[in-house]
Amino acid sequence: MLVDVAFEANDILGEGPVWSVAEQALYWVDIQQPSLQRYDPAEGIHNIWPMPSQIGSFALRQASGFLVALQTGLAFFDSETAEITPLIDPESHLPQTRFNDGKCDRQGRFWAGTMGTIEGKPAGSLYRFDSDHSLHTMRRDVAVSNGLGWSPDNRTMYYADSPTYTIFAFDFEPETGKISHERIFAHHQTGFPDGLTVDAEGYVWSARWDGWQVIRFAPDGTIDLVVEMPVQRPTSCIFGGPELNQLFITSAKIGLTETELARQPLAGSLFVLEVDVPGLVEPLFGNP
Ligand code: BGC
Ligand code: CA
Repeated sequence: MLVDVAFEANDILGEGPVWSVAEQALYWVDIQQPSLQRYDPAEGIHNIWPMPSQIGSFALRQASGFLVALQTGLAFFDSETAEITPLIDPESHLPQTRFNDGKCDRQGRFWAGTMGTIEGKPAGSLYRFDSDHSLHTMRRDVAVSNGLGWSPDNRTMYYADSPTYTIFAFDFEPETGKISHERIFAHHQTGFPDGLTVDAEGYVWSARWDGWQVIRFAPDGTIDLVVEMPVQRPTSCIFGGPELNQLFITSAKIGLTETELARQPLAGSLFVLEVDVPGLVEPLFGNP
């Protein structure tokens, strides 16, 4: 399986891709050159909206516009007017943390976690932000809160804490958004588990930071497929395209030396991989 370059984004820390079915376009962020970006593969159009602080992740809203997870907390963002409406900052007392990966569940709740900007002791938490704007702390003592995803039957939630090399699984209750019975889904040491997504067969695709790979795990946690990447730091992946059978993969070049960068001139690009089993439509934030 070979990945192609979808777009030479030149990101420092590309992350959080989301495919918009309505627009047939990919959105993603660069956390370090804080911006929300959009690429329309059919038209070849790229848009970029600067953000006032590091943006870890975002969701498309039912109501139009975006929910963004900034270093300064959650906010709504209107790309037409560039207006930002702050909502809530659960860690205003912790200047050394920022939001990282986030995603909506199928009931339209937004899950996003934080991480210490000085990586070390687990200073982060995982939060759930509901359509009624209530915020719930779902997991504490997270080092680098990362990839999130749900099984096709909506009964299992996957969640990666990168420095632990572990993707965890939880029992998920769709009606209430409760999680329980935390267990290890996949502990694997080729790179660190970064962003992830789940396909229509319930297999988990995990971008391996520092691993030069994206791995497809079977629902029992065993490795089903390894996709080699031309970059050391693939960061996240999501299904897109008209048939949802194109896996878009973001990447980073942050922290790489000149010598390392010379070996991977495509670091920071957006990649695409044609796959057999498609993905599922990414839910929007808010009430359907
Ligand atoms: C974070 C990076 C971190 C990496 C690997 C990414 O999601 O944004 O800051 O270094 O994961 O842990
Ligand atoms: Ca990530």
